[in-house]
Amino acid sequence: MPKTAQSMISSKLAQKLGEQIGHELGAHQQYLAIGTYFAQQSLDKWAGLFYRQAAEEKEHALKIVKFLVETGEALEFPAIAAASTRFKSPASAVAQALKWERTVTEQFQAMAKVALAEGDFVGFQFLQWFLEEQVEEVSSMEKYLALVESGINLFQAEELLEIEN
Ligand SMILES: [Fe+2]
Ligand SMILES: [Fe+2]
Repeated sequence: MPKTAQSMISSKLAQKLGEQIGHELGAHQQYLAIGTYFAQQSLDKWAGLFYRQAAEEKEHALKIVKFLVETGEALEFPAIAAASTRFKSPASAVAQALKWERTVTEQFQAMAKVALAEGDFVGFQFLQWFLEEQVEEVSSMEKYLALVESGINLFQAEELLEIEN
């Protein structure tokens, strides 16, 4: 990967972070799709929850972009996979989101391993924020899934969402 300036992080980690921008933007689009699925059923607070989550994923992508610019890395944006707004059920939509969050957690853990193996402490430090964030995101998605799977009427469940947000 060509450098724009003297790089401060390992090129292996820089490459993985570049790919992660695509994963975060992919998650952004997937959450837009889930939010839309709920909006189409007039479940506006469930929709809002996933639209907010979508906005956070875009922020995650931007955080990585800024870091790569600051550390002098060249970067290209990867292609983003298509996202469908059709799901079998609300539970399967939320279960899908939980699966993505777990996958993203694994991606950051893999990057942390790369950073340590490369003796890249600047990169390792940067990853800490994301690792903490993932603990929070997996945990809250588990709660939403438990709520949906409890069989509660989802319109009634919207009142519980207000407490959580
Ligand atoms: Fe994210
Ligand atoms: Fe996330």
